[in-house]
Amino acid sequence: MASPPPSAAPARLVVLVSGSGTNLQALLDAIGDDPEGYGAQVVAVGADRHGTAGIERAERAGLPTFVCRVGDHATREDWDAALTGAVAEHRPDLVVSAGFMKIVGKEFLAAFGGRIVNTHPALLPSFPGAHGVRDALAYGVKVTGCTVHFVDDGVDTGPIIAQGVVEVTEEDTAEGEAALHERIKEVERKLLVEAVRRLARDGYRIEGRKVHLGHVGE
Ligand code: GRF
Repeated sequence: MASPPPSAAPARLVVLVSGSGTNLQALLDAIGDDPEGYGAQVVAVGADRHGTAGIERAERAGLPTFVCRVGDHATREDWDAALTGAVAEHRPDLVVSAGFMKIVGKEFLAAFGGRIVNTHPALLPSFPGAHGVRDALAYGVKVTGCTVHFVDDGVDTGPIIAQGVVEVTEEDTAEGEAALHERIKEVERKLLVEAVRRLARDGYRIEGRKVHLGHVGE
């Protein structure tokens, strides 16, 4: 699977958030007022809940926002269809799941498969799921980090785009999950900004589990 050849127009990004939105903010800061230079622009931000700092950041940036809550729909499939519709309205080239704490369903994957980028606070395939930082700490690993990857129908199982490493030190106790997560997020924000830049500007090809950056058409 390959991305369309990069064009002169910046790629359209829809970013999905659930929390504080610092990864979203890093993208917005990197794009600044030069989407052509970066190769992409954020065209909308969506969330799965009301009142997130991520949505507030988007509003401050003057971006269209939407909220699509599971609880507002009769079934998970209905929610997935509504989310798919809300994202599709903004005609994204890439969908960036930046701390979006929901697993998307079949319809969403059918619409945007191969174009959904997720960021995860652990070195996949170790410690997938909602508690990657806590699980890595509990396991006693000496290094952990973050993974930017494409989303497939598993939980944090899709092809890996980029990874960053963070050392776990003696000071990282089980109670220190938040502090370790903050150190991971410092690396994660830069990794995500650079990965999206390269996907958008240089194009990419997904072959099985391998993601090739900048090799479209070869
Ligand atoms: C990130 O570490 C992401 O990997 C995880 O939640 C965090 C989101 O942070 N799933 P933020 O909302 O971008 O600040």
